[in-house]
Amino acid sequence: MRILFIGFGNVAKETARILTEKELYPKLDLVPTVIGVFTQRHGGVENTNGLDLRSVLRSLKEKNTLVCEDEQLSSLTPLEAAQILDYDVLVELSALSISEHGEPASSYIHAALERGKSVVSANKGPVAFNYHKLKKLADEKGVKYLFESAVMDGAPVFNLVRRCMKGSTIKGFSGILNGTTNYILSYMENGGTFEEGVKQAQLAGIAEADPTMDTDGWDPAAKTAAFANVLMDADINPFDVERKGISQITPEMCKDALKRGKRLKLICRAQTIDGKIKASVKVEEVDKDDVMALISHFGAAIRIESDLMHPNTIIQDRPDLLDTAYGVIEDLISISDKSVC
Ligand SMILES: NC(=O)c1ccc[n+]([C@@H]2O[C@H](COP(=O)([O-])OP(=O)(O)OC[C@H]3O[C@@H](n4cnc5c(N)ncnc54)[C@H](OP(=O)(O)O)[C@@H]3O)[C@@H](O)[C@H]2O)c1
Repeated sequence: MRILFIGFGNVAKETARILTEKELYPKLDLVPTVIGVFTQRHGGVENTNGLDLRSVLRSLKEKNTLVCEDEQLSSLTPLEAAQILDYDVLVELSALSISEHGEPASSYIHAALERGKSVVSANKGPVAFNYHKLKKLADEKGVKYLFESAVMDGAPVFNLVRRCMKGSTIKGFSGILNGTTNYILSYMENGGTFEEGVKQAQLAGIAEADPTMDTDGWDPAAKTAAFANVLMDADINPFDVERKGISQITPEMCKDALKRGKRLKLICRAQTIDGKIKASVKVEEVDKDDVMALISHFGAAIRIESDLMHPNTIIQDRPDLLDTAYGVIEDLISISDKSVC
């Protein structure tokens, strides 16, 4: 499998590290050759015979450059790489952009699919803004567009519904999909302030330097739109999601809820009401024996409601980069193994 990476940050480096573990290949039914790595500020490198991934990872770590030994930076832009290079699968791991409506990632993915190349991505932007267009193109070209790690860091939600719930219709879902805000709410229950909670989440490497994408609810709104589009065939984007973040929540409100046997949780929800799909992200009080109340720290959960089953809940316990990277690997396996749908 000839792989082109666009975006080579934390997730891509962890994915690449796993791909260098050659003893995994027979288990994965996958022999990867990475022919290009392209980024925004670090430029790109390409080698039609395959890059030495270990050297690329070492160069980045030791010298902050993709270039190893006597190679040179490619003159191609990431989009040109997707349009021109000879690869089988684009692994798209560039940064999420809500203000740019999922661009330029959607264009990279579109360029690959247009050429009949499968795509694996952990980027929720294209799923939240352009899912139906990209999926239609993938189907027309007979290739796959997979994104298991885009929401809930690789926990098998999209795959579960696609492979195991084919006969049922998803009527709705609710869940905790943002680790940073869940951590801050838990932190305030224990008497800490909002600002301290943000700082602790940043120290743990979960919250960004600018935490407002999480605390204002944009990241969970993008995840809600992505789940609604794929699981419920909705056609919404993050701007269609009723959204209220956690910045107005105080430690007193959290502690008061606790005293009444409740917990405050930022709940992402989508529901079919009178034939229309309504989606929201807002703080809700949940009973202490509700499964959502059990999600502490950076955990996540989704409760899926369908017409033919009682609700199923998937809980993810403190995911990290390994989970996200494994979701990417699992998607690559789905592409290499033709028996997997
Ligand atoms: N981190 C997680 O645990 C996690 C979990 C689930 C999903 N995701 C998603 O996975 C993706 C990657 O996350 P990450 O944590 O690896 O991000 P990251 O560490 O910030 O790395 C992002 C990479 O994308 C490149 N990039 C940024 N803008 C680009 C553009 N316009 N064109 C081409 N490349 C661009 C960056 O280039 P430079 O290296 O030059 O800056 C960098 O290599 C994101 O979409 C994120 O939302 C992440």
